[in-house]
This record gives sequence, structure tokens and C-alpha cells, in this order.
Amino acid sequence: MSKYLKFLDLGNQPLANNYLRKDQLIKKEKKYRLKVGINNESKLVSIEKPLSSKIMFNQNYPYRSSMSKTMIKSFKNLSDFIKKKFHPKKILEIGSNDGSFLKNFSKKKSIGIEPCSNVEQITKSKGYNTYSEYWNKNTAKKILKKNGKIDLIYSANTISHIQNLDEVFKSINIILKDNGIIILEDPSLLECLKRNTYDQFYNEHIYVFSLIAIENILKKHNLEVFHIQNLKIHGGSNRYFIKKKNNKIKIDLSVKLNRDKEIRYGLNNLKTYRSFAKRVQKSKKLLKKLFMKIKNKKKIIVGYGVTAKSTTVLNYCKIGKKYISYFVDTTLDKQNKYTPGTRIPIFEYKGLDNKKIDYIFLGAWNFKDEIFKKEKNFIKNGGKVIIHTPVPKII
Ligand code: TYD
Repeated sequence: MSKYLKFLDLGNQPLANNYLRKDQLIKKEKKYRLKVGINNESKLVSIEKPLSSKIMFNQNYPYRSSMSKTMIKSFKNLSDFIKKKFHPKKILEIGSNDGSFLKNFSKKKSIGIEPCSNVEQITKSKGYNTYSEYWNKNTAKKILKKNGKIDLIYSANTISHIQNLDEVFKSINIILKDNGIIILEDPSLLECLKRNTYDQFYNEHIYVFSLIAIENILKKHNLEVFHIQNLKIHGGSNRYFIKKKNNKIKIDLSVKLNRDKEIRYGLNNLKTYRSFAKRVQKSKKLLKKLFMKIKNKKKIIVGYGVTAKSTTVLNYCKIGKKYISYFVDTTLDKQNKYTPGTRIPIFEYKGLDNKKIDYIFLGAWNFKDEIFKKEKNFIKNGGKVIIHTPVPKII
């Protein structure tokens, strides 16, 4: 019998992307207990109690994939690769956000699904064929009727947000051609454990996938991974290339190598997750201590890039306004609001002034390289950077 075994408790957490307007501060926010566990049979790691999609993904969704050069470049490189390798006549993106990926393809060829109508409208306004729908069988049937079958389906950082994975793949099977390709991209569980990035878990991230778990789900739907790319994106992601079983494409060595790597690390083993949980508890203590030490010296700390991930870190470690004076972020929909739970003000990013800021805390640590490049003067002039992964430290 399959059993869900909990291994990590990240405490009471607010909705990770629910940046608060000033007038919302008088109300108490709803909090949800965030616990993480593993299914002992499928080895699928998930949060214990997923919330309804409608609470999290609606017309107020603040996330924009176009906010980082890293993502834009990654989408462009992948698009070039797809065009050269697969020549798709029709391409569908599940979770198309503001169209940062689809814009690399012709409007005639592309279809975007995005349940958050505010971001879906951005892509539509550029002339793309988009649907403001959740990905399920009804949506697949509707799109099939209007557009016919699809050659290539791409989805980045979206499938991990959908609770019913069987429905995800049943819906994909409705619309994908027999020789069609699916490309999925999500944070890697192996990298999450190696780097102690427990903030990959928040209410939207229902799952953090391993290849082992993905293969266990796919086999129920006659699908299989034939190639994997390990990416640096979002602190280490996997890009899974998937086909129908009867498609003759060769399964290459990357799949076995990745599977072996995961088994060697112990992703099949509950013990591995228990020791991860211990490291996470230790990381919490160390981060708090670090903040306290810096604040005791009366230094000013500013958060850089406010993320769903930082919601987990700040609420779990109980780091609030006392430690972080404010956040800066380039996303318009996050500015002049307050961080969920911890209520730290968020302002427009206008560069960093060494006279006013001593330390930045990297909420967007996953874009560390991009940010270090951008802020080289701040660092050269003595500005310091706090990061919590793989261990809390100043760099
Ligand atoms: P991301 O890590 O993609 O978000 P999440 O954890 O919510 O999935 O978000 C990165 C955030 O950092 C986004 O709000 C934009 C912001 N950002 C900056 O403000 N400046 C930058 O230079 C970069 C790269 C990101």
C-alpha cells in the first residue's frame, strides 16, 4: 500500500505570492501549515495539503517570467534548439505566463494556456492565440477542437503547481500527436536537497520532482523520458524530453545517468529526506543568527528580489522588518506592497546606494550570477550579500 511519509515541517505560511496592499495590512492573513513528505511507492515528494488552484492562480498573479535576462536567454536558446531539432508545426505552452517563451515562435504556430488572466492578456495583446484556462481534459478537448493535434508541448515551472498529475498527462495524451514531444522543466529535487533550498517548497510548488518520480507517473500514461538536460535555472532544474512509448526515438544515456545519480544520492530512501530536514532546521538557526549579528552592528539590510521562495524562508525563519528594512524588485505588481506574512515593504528597484545599504539579502538567489553582474559596483564598493543556500553566509 502506498503511504505518504512526512519529513519536513516549514511552519505556518501565508500564500507565497500574495503581496499585500497597504489597505490589506489591517486584516490578519490566512496561514497554512506547510509540511513536506514523500510517497513511499512513487517516490513523489509533495507538500501535504495543496490549496485550490483558484486561490493561488487568478487575475491577481504577480509573477512575470520576462523579469529576468536569464529566463529570456534560456527560452531563446531552447526555442532555437526546438526549431532545429523538432521542426514543430504546432506548439502549445502550458503556463505561458507573459509569453516570454512563445514570443520566439510564429503566432500562427503557437498556443498558450495561462489561467491567470492578467498575464494571459499580456501574451494575447501581442497577437498570440491564448486561453485563460487551467490545464485539464476539458481545456485539452477545447483546444483540440479548435486547433487540431499538437506536435510539441512545453511547460516550465507549471506542472509542479498542478495537483492532479494523472489528469495533466491524460490531457496531454488527448492533444499530442503520436510522434509528438513533451518538454517539461522544473526544479530538480536532487539539487534542492544538495543545496538545502527548502524554499523550493511553498503552497504553489506542490511537487519538487525527481526523475525517479516523473518516470513512475509517466509509465501510467504510456509516456517515457528519452533525454534530460540539467539546467542551472532556478538553482538547478531538469528539462525532461518525453515521448509516447510507441514513438521510436532512442532513449539516450542521459536518462540512465540521471537516474543512477539520483539513486546514488539516496532519493529512493527516506533516510536521505530525514537528514535533509535536519539540515534545514540547522539552516534556519544559522540564518537567524547571521541576521542578528549584522543587526547588532546597526547595519542596514535590504532584500533583493522578492520571491515566493523568500516567503518560505522569511516566515519559516521568522525574519521580518526588524532585520530587513525593505525589499527592492523590478516587478511592477510587487512594488509598493508588503511581503506575505512578514509585511516588509517592497519598493521599485532603482539601483543600490552604498551610502544607504550595507547588506543585501538575496531573495532571488536563483539569479545570483545575473544579480552579481548587475551589482558589481555595489559589491566593489564594500556592499555585502547574504545568501541562505547551501548554508547561510555572507559573500
Ligand atoms: P523568481 O525567483 O523567478 O520567483 P519565485 O520564487 O516567485 O518563483 O523571482 C525573481 C524575482 O526577483 C522577481 O520578482 C524579479 C526579481 N528580480 C529583480 O528584482 N532584479 C533582478 O535583477 C532579477 C534577476 C530578478
